[in-house]
Amino acid sequence: MKIGILTSGGDCPGINATIRGVGKTAIMHYGMEVYGIHSGYKGIISEDIERFTERSLSGILNLGGTILGTSREKPFRKQLIANEDDIQEKLLRKYRELGLDCVVCIGGNGTMKTANVISRLGLNVIAVPKTIDNDIWGTDITFGFNTAVNIATEAIDRLHSTASSHKRVMVIEVMGHHVGWIALHAGMAGGGDVILIPELGFNIQKINEFILGRAARGKPYSIVVVAEGIDTPKCMKPAEYIALEISRGTGIETRQTVLGHIQRGGNPSPFDRNLATLLGGHATEMISRGEFGRMVCVNGNHISSIPLDEVANKLKLVKDNNNLIIQGRRMGICFGN
Ligand code: F6P
Repeated sequence: MKIGILTSGGDCPGINATIRGVGKTAIMHYGMEVYGIHSGYKGIISEDIERFTERSLSGILNLGGTILGTSREKPFRKQLIANEDDIQEKLLRKYRELGLDCVVCIGGNGTMKTANVISRLGLNVIAVPKTIDNDIWGTDITFGFNTAVNIATEAIDRLHSTASSHKRVMVIEVMGHHVGWIALHAGMAGGGDVILIPELGFNIQKINEFILGRAARGKPYSIVVVAEGIDTPKCMKPAEYIALEISRGTGIETRQTVLGHIQRGGNPSPFDRNLATLLGGHATEMISRGEFGRMVCVNGNHISSIPLDEVANKLKLVKDNNNLIIQGRRMGICFGN
């Protein structure tokens, strides 16, 4: 069999480990021909592909980013290819001309949506979910998330000593444009006092009362962890808005930190390397069995798969009965409401 691998959407730690997991298993175990497709879906159309060998897949397990390059461009937007009217038809034609038997699409929510479209077009597709946000519906966890939580937790740990020395409120903004998985997990692991996530909403008065209450109990400093997706005025960064409202409402000196892409760059954690390797291996097994149109997923301790149709256009949100929220509330952590 001749298979292609592409990466699409924002990068995250563990993508190269997945490419290696798919490629090496395909070459060494199944004797397949493996091709890397560059720059996401548009690489199929522009035939930007390279043959992978076992050797070319060496040394990438611990490498951040993606050796194939990626793009957030939507492949079915007309302007992607000049003078091209029917991109869907062109994609299918190129896939056939290249003689591919399957495309492994490694990506986030947008990639799953497109993978579903091209699968319906007639391409054999297997998708592997990746995102630091951990918001892909149908899988318990995505690789990249554990690494991002480690980085965000370390940053929160570092804020504690300066916050307590200066008796300040420190607001830290972490990624998660629709969901609060990173904020919740890093906030709890880093001992955050206030954790704000988009799923729960917040009331700034309640937050200020909580911070003043801590000060009255002899804790004049607080750590506030906010997800970038919380609902704040569009003209301000969430951390900026929350810090301003806290300093106005409490009179306590407040500082803000926006962690940004530091959470997404660099080496994957050992957990993410192994998760990515297992998902890649499973994807290859599915190719050998001809199980197409599906996304590899983690279900408890098992790796399995679900139809792309079920995944596309959904988001995995944090629920308010999440164990960390329940336990956090019992320990007096403020979730903003
Ligand atoms: O989807 C992952 C993510 O890192 C989000 O948390 C963040 O909002 C977004 O990507 C940033 O995207 P970009 O790198 O394109 O600015």
